[in-house]
Amino acid sequence: MCGIVGILGSKPVAIDIVDALRRLEYRGYDSAGIATVENGHLERRRAEGKLRNLETRLGTEPLSGTTGIGHTRWATHGRPIERNAHPHMNDRVAVVHNGIIENFQELREELTGKGYVFETETDTETVLHLVTYYLDQGMPPVEASRIALNRLRGAFALGLIFSDDKNLLIGARQGPPLAIGHGDGEMYLGSDAIALASLTDTITYLEDGDWAVLTRAGVQVFDLSGKTVHRTAIKSVASSLLVDKGNYRHFMLKEIHEQPEVIAHTLGNYIDMAEGAVKFPALGIDLAGVNRVTISACGTAYYAGVVAKYWIEKYARIPVEIDVASEFRYREVPLAPGGLAVFVSQSGETADTLEALRYCKKNGQVIAAIVNVRTSTIARESNTVLPTLAGPEIGVASTKAFTSQLSVLACLAIAIGRARGTIDAAKEKELVKALSEVPRHVSTMLRDESFYEGLAHEISKARDVLYLGRGVSYPIAMEGALKLKEISYIHAEGYAAGELKHGPIALIDENVPVIVVAPEDELFEKTVSNMQEVAARGGQIVLISDVAKEKAGCRLLSHIKMPKAHPFTTPLLYAVPVQLLAYHTAVVMGTDVDQPRNLAKSVTVE
Ligand code: G6P
Repeated sequence: MCGIVGILGSKPVAIDIVDALRRLEYRGYDSAGIATVENGHLERRRAEGKLRNLETRLGTEPLSGTTGIGHTRWATHGRPIERNAHPHMNDRVAVVHNGIIENFQELREELTGKGYVFETETDTETVLHLVTYYLDQGMPPVEASRIALNRLRGAFALGLIFSDDKNLLIGARQGPPLAIGHGDGEMYLGSDAIALASLTDTITYLEDGDWAVLTRAGVQVFDLSGKTVHRTAIKSVASSLLVDKGNYRHFMLKEIHEQPEVIAHTLGNYIDMAEGAVKFPALGIDLAGVNRVTISACGTAYYAGVVAKYWIEKYARIPVEIDVASEFRYREVPLAPGGLAVFVSQSGETADTLEALRYCKKNGQVIAAIVNVRTSTIARESNTVLPTLAGPEIGVASTKAFTSQLSVLACLAIAIGRARGTIDAAKEKELVKALSEVPRHVSTMLRDESFYEGLAHEISKARDVLYLGRGVSYPIAMEGALKLKEISYIHAEGYAAGELKHGPIALIDENVPVIVVAPEDELFEKTVSNMQEVAARGGQIVLISDVAKEKAGCRLLSHIKMPKAHPFTTPLLYAVPVQLLAYHTAVVMGTDVDQPRNLAKSVTVE
């Protein structure tokens, strides 16, 4: 989950590499670096921390090479210090790497035994010495790279340049994505097409196991045995997706405010408002015959999946298995062939989600992917892609992607219910109408945020925050806690309100805010009882609900008044106040809202 770039250019490339890396910072921002080939030798600049530190460095110590590679890092092996920053290089080769070399220990011992000296704590440095070893045996760069690649185990995307051939750039993909860009007498390599968007819109995506030899005349793609494979170049729409913050202070805030539009846009793709019916694409499976749905995802996308479990079980009356992908993939879940498996992912590149998908595919499941990036690996490996139309999400904390995922999943629940006859046409109309009202409600909720600014000052004083919810509001409580902890660094936990008494209640005192997500649905009264339990122990309650605050029956620290809405759609609406609360608390805390510490937007390692 680092970002890598390579350019074979016709003029000095450092500025273009920095520009491409800027669009890859969502993949990590612990350090950044660039190496170029200059007059037969390699030159490098690196800097700890964000890309702007590298830019400052390049301002005083520029690079003039027309062939170069660059990297923005999310640290796995080795601390995020300059010494461990990529590119790693010696006088013959420079390498950038995204992913993990699993057999690095074994290779490190072997290469140390051969006299190669390791300077860093990274797994990447083994690639550098391995390629150098084969070069030292007299092999030309392409052959040395091929043999070295064959010896690597793990998940990686790599870019390599060589001091004695400034017309050569090698890329390799095993796991994490890698795109080749075609220019006019120039060639490019990038972790995604958006990185290359200002350079070219003609892209070839490498498949798993591919490696590529780029020269200024074009690219040749091979499999690991060295056999040429054909990969088609396509026109990418990435250039039209380039985004800026507009008038917003942070991308996260802008993305929160885009929700009425992207929810409407996404819903428009799956429902016919005029007919009051879902118009779902064929999933390659008879929905009427589906008797089990499996869902897997990570992080925020996982919570969208948990909401879907409640929806599908209630409205379509079939059991739904859901688990985080990192567990699911190793659980050896027994799956009867012919089931439907749904994978939810903003990036479409999350390594664990992808492996869970592959497991289900191998076990005869029909695969549907709910992704925001249609060209992603998860999209390409699925039987059906159900896109979320959220546009690029830049803030590391997911917001509009989440509500867009919920929009698709809500339609999926209706589609399965209709096919199975658990929902009739009148009920379908009612649910579709409820969904069609969501963008308007969200828009109203976003009109005035001054209230959240005040509340955020209170929350920012806390060391721990609890979020409670029941039924379909439980995953929203968990999502609220995740949002708060990831961007404000305040410890937060989401609990099923009924579980409170089985442990977390011990934490409650007057210093612990308890955020209660409680729309007035059939479970409201029960959640109110749990709220009383908190109040009796001095807990500071923030009630997010459509009921008047008097109905809480206890003293509240604050009441976030929600619009009245159909119970089916409350997860879509109640996601918004928990996002705003986390956002404004992070602003009060002065954290880096769009790029919180230690996190990355796209996680292509296990
Ligand atoms: C990271 C991001 C989260 C995201 C999760 C899953 O942890 O920081 O915001 O929910 O990955 O990512 P995906 O791209 O699969 O939705």
